[in-house]
Amino acid sequence: MRIGKQMTTEFLEGDRLSLALRGREAYGGIHQRAWVEVDLGAITTNVQQIQTLLAPQTELMAVVKADAYGHGATFVAQVLSQAGVSGFAVATIPEGIELREAGIDQPILVLGAAHTPDEVKAIAHWQLQATLCTPQQALLFSASLSRLNQSLAVQLNLDTGMSRLGTDWQQAIEFVELVQRLPRLKIAGVYSHFATADDPDPTVLQQQHQRFQQAIAQLRAMGYWDWQTSPSLAPLSGSKGEVPPIPGSSQSPRPLLHIANSAATLMDTALHYDLVRVGLAIYGLYPAPHLQSCLKLKSALQVKARITQIKKIEPGTGISYGHRFVAQSPMQIAVVGIGYADGVPRNLSNQMQVLVQGEFAPQVGAITMDQLMIDVSHLPSLRVGEVVTLIGQEGDRAISAEDWAARLGTISWEILCGFKHRLPRIATVN
Ligand SMILES: Cc1ncc(COP(=O)(O)O)c(C=O)c1O
Repeated sequence: MRIGKQMTTEFLEGDRLSLALRGREAYGGIHQRAWVEVDLGAITTNVQQIQTLLAPQTELMAVVKADAYGHGATFVAQVLSQAGVSGFAVATIPEGIELREAGIDQPILVLGAAHTPDEVKAIAHWQLQATLCTPQQALLFSASLSRLNQSLAVQLNLDTGMSRLGTDWQQAIEFVELVQRLPRLKIAGVYSHFATADDPDPTVLQQQHQRFQQAIAQLRAMGYWDWQTSPSLAPLSGSKGEVPPIPGSSQSPRPLLHIANSAATLMDTALHYDLVRVGLAIYGLYPAPHLQSCLKLKSALQVKARITQIKKIEPGTGISYGHRFVAQSPMQIAVVGIGYADGVPRNLSNQMQVLVQGEFAPQVGAITMDQLMIDVSHLPSLRVGEVVTLIGQEGDRAISAEDWAARLGTISWEILCGFKHRLPRIATVN
């Protein structure tokens, strides 16, 4: 199976890291009409910052699903690998394969659920860690692995209140007992996921945490924490033959417990357990305003595009589809080579600003598929080819993914993931 997109990795400065330059866009993204710049230095610094919150034995798992939240999974993972993260989380099997093909050899946890023998085969072949969410899935994995004569490290997902994937936390013992008796499966982790960690009201988070604690306490009481030696954990009768060893299994004497995403990681060390699964904070964004004082993070992503035409228009002239903006006075407008097909939401039409020559310029008229217009009446020296910053910083002025999210009534995660592959990702090391 080979599913993965191509990625430009071009360095603007400080070419310290040897990252592959491959793909159809590798002819020089910097000269293109529009691109995403990813500051690898910021990512490294953010990891170092997050690590200051963690106890020495707590591992940092970097969540790099959805192409590392739009930043470019392969080169971000390579940088994170060097920055000392202990493993990666992806959503899908192809995302995991893409990392393996890029040379990532740390544990890669697939957070999504796999359900077919072909998926089990791919997971085993690429030595990914599967998330098991139900007993049925565990049995399917076991049967498929027997046919393949392979073994696999898996992680069990307990639903403590997210009501998404996972076995109900109250069935934790039955679930663990079943998986523990399937000799081709080794439980490398037991985890859950918070639904409201970014909410200043901690009520639901506390309830979920108590459920997680309760499930663990029950497992401990049943002797399930001494996983290697518990007599009740003999393989199910009927399992025959020698079971091949699981790569890396000797390194984890007991399953890792984890529940914290970025917000929970920033909020309280009591939520860290053995490992934290951090996405957003690694990319330098805060999950919520009230968590901004916890750490100094730096946003890694900037979105830039070039001006492709400049024109003067008379009062009464309508701009773009539907003439949703009509000039009230003589104006100078600039066309910018980026649009909603690149990930600039059309609902930001007439609602956003950009930075150009260090100044704010309002966007005017409907955002089109490949282009948008800005009012540059106050910038007479502007020329075609100059660079516009849609998200990022110019001097002391900045526009953030949070700004877009607030305008759109959404979350910054969605903004980051929305930038399409048509935009080359260009790595910078500042
Ligand atoms: C299961 C799971 N863990 C961790 C994360 C990381 O969350 P965040 O980006 O808030 O750190 C996610 C993200 O959606 C997730 O689905």
